Amino acid sequence: MEEQSVNTRKLAAEKAVEYVKQGMIVGLGTGSTAYWAIQLLGSRVKQGLEIKSLATSTQSELMAHELGIPIITFAETDHLDITIDGADETDESLNLIKGGGGALLREKIVGSATEFYIIIADESKLVNHLGSFPLPVEVVQFGSELSFRKLQTLGCSPRLRLTNNKPFVTDNGHFIFDCACGYILEPDLLHQQLINIPGVVETGLFLNMADIVILGNKDGGTRIIRKQAT
Ligand code: 5RP
Repeated sequence: MEEQSVNTRKLAAEKAVEYVKQGMIVGLGTGSTAYWAIQLLGSRVKQGLEIKSLATSTQSELMAHELGIPIITFAETDHLDITIDGADETDESLNLIKGGGGALLREKIVGSATEFYIIIADESKLVNHLGSFPLPVEVVQFGSELSFRKLQTLGCSPRLRLTNNKPFVTDNGHFIFDCACGYILEPDLLHQQLINIPGVVETGLFLNMADIVILGNKDGGTRIIRKQAT
């Protein structure tokens, strides 16, 4: 990973963890930007901050465990105060593409149970229109060939995500199709069309979920984009 990119991600994470206060239940995102947030939270926990966390992936849960951040599950709560997560793309309206790290389903579950949802990213993730980044779509393994063809008929070009030449399997035991759909001008409609395909479990379109997006920029600062009041 390029040095500049690491620094801008860390800058965004530093700003985000300022929102975390004593006693909160905090959702931990997944990916190289969320990594910094978890590291920084670990430092604050060592200094005495008392929080509970709920992770969006086994990878982030392991990291939290190693850093001594207390972990809970949805058996213990149905509400999180804050979640800090990354994104693959965001537009100015705070619509997102997520799932590049393969954790989209848990990320959406955690995000949807969160009071204040913070997205952190390098400034390069801000786009005019979503869709340059292929949209991750999580599907059950059974019938995935059929799901593939149905995705094609929607005009998306699905590609089965591979790792070491084998299908990538999510924490939930599913496959991911990365779908090149072109610019996504009607994200709500596309999400609805995709989720209506039997076998599709979740899409990487996170619409009207984020409360703020914090972008780290290469000048050493951050830009915060806030959700517009509706
Ligand atoms: C994982 C995600 C990540 O938040 C997203 O892929 C961004 O990752 P990174 O911070 O490494 O660029 O959605 O499923």
